[in-house]
Amino acid sequence: MSHNLLTVTGLTKSFGGLKVLAGISFTVAPGEILGLVGPNGSGKTTCINVISGLYKPDGGQVIFKGQSVTGKPLHVMAKAGVNRTFQIPKPFKGLTVKQNIEVVQHRQGAFQVVDNPLEFVGLQKFQDRDASSLTSGQQKLLDLARALASGPEMLLVDELAAGLNPAELVEIARRLKHLSERGVALLVVEHLLGFVNELTQRVIVMNAGKEIFEGDLDSAAKNERVVEVYLGQ
Ligand SMILES: Nc1ncnc2c1ncn2[C@@H]1O[C@H](COP(=O)(O)OP(=O)(O)O)[C@@H](O)[C@H]1O
Ligand SMILES: [Mg+2]
Repeated sequence: MSHNLLTVTGLTKSFGGLKVLAGISFTVAPGEILGLVGPNGSGKTTCINVISGLYKPDGGQVIFKGQSVTGKPLHVMAKAGVNRTFQIPKPFKGLTVKQNIEVVQHRQGAFQVVDNPLEFVGLQKFQDRDASSLTSGQQKLLDLARALASGPEMLLVDELAAGLNPAELVEIARRLKHLSERGVALLVVEHLLGFVNELTQRVIVMNAGKEIFEGDLDSAAKNERVVEVYLGQ
């Protein structure tokens, strides 16, 4: 028995002729926070998309709690305990903020990660507003609350920091750390390194669908190859 919660091995995905994932492998332990960073277009969102079941990978494996869940669709993954946020969230417009959470199916016997997801992300005061009235930053927080409502043990967050103001950033970093302390594992995808630094030192840096660095964030920021791909943008 491995103590890893999530293991991905050799994930590949192409769109047309473009190999967007060229064999990504990593593991995440329960309650661990792993940062997945890299320049725009390096394949970070696609990585979340194939793990969370939005897309099927062309090759490779996704193992969750020791079982292959490779290619299973989003709703099956959510039920299994893996959920994700979207880089560009699309809340149900015409539904209130609260109703957007109520439509989420709860996992059978899921451990309650947070009692009240809306309160957890600081949106309870807006619960009766139409979701479309929220700012883009607030829509990201609502999307996070939606993912939390399913009771995930593994949460994949895609560029949560972009669009949040500095006060919201501090708050959300504190809350994500709280989730990890409660045993939720997090894969934190970010283009910029600053927000990741608030959460974890363990990062993988991607470029062109491949891992180019794995280690601690401070070393990544000094790594020649990493600096080069960021400057080369
Ligand atoms: N559904 C898709 N169809 C075609 N190309 C896609 C699709 N999703 C992503 N891509 C392409 O894959 C590459 C990586 O995109 P993405 O995973 O979004 O990168 P990142 O999140 O690191 O910015 C980009 O060139 C993007 O245009
Ligand atoms: Mg992306």
